[in-house]
Amino acid sequence: MTQKILILNGPNLNLLGTRQPEVYGATTLAEIEAMCHARAQERGIAVTCVQSNHEGALVDQLHAARGVFAGVVLNAGAYTHTSVALMDAISSTMLPVVELHLSNIHAREAFRHRSFIAPVAVGQICGFGAAGYPLAIDALLAHLGADE
Ligand code: DQA
Repeated sequence: MTQKILILNGPNLNLLGTRQPEVYGATTLAEIEAMCHARAQERGIAVTCVQSNHEGALVDQLHAARGVFAGVVLNAGAYTHTSVALMDAISSTMLPVVELHLSNIHAREAFRHRSFIAPVAVGQICGFGAAGYPLAIDALLAHLGADE
């Protein structure tokens, strides 16, 4: 059966391309999702891409991912820095999650240095812009043992 990965994007990431391009780059979310599908095809897996601006909807997506997806690439946007609910959802579902950020959150404002996702994630990729998404897919597959 083809392995499936969920690419889950949080608040304001639907505005990528026009949103602070000096910070997040000029690539749109649709282009990022196309990059994810291309990498999935190269790797012989399938990805489903979902974006929501709502914290509870992201929690619902994580719950629904159980038993359907082998793992999740999660850019939780600003909820990264605030959401105990997302942290708990990851712990509760026990899904392997790769935390992803376009920008290097550690080189930005102090409030972005804390991540509620990091303690429950497999690992974190940040600072590589849109290129981080295919990197995160590869990282998740490596974690899942696809490279062995
Ligand atoms: C972000 C970083 C967050 O701090 C910010 O709130 C975002 C995007 C990133 O991809 O760099 O919305 O997750």
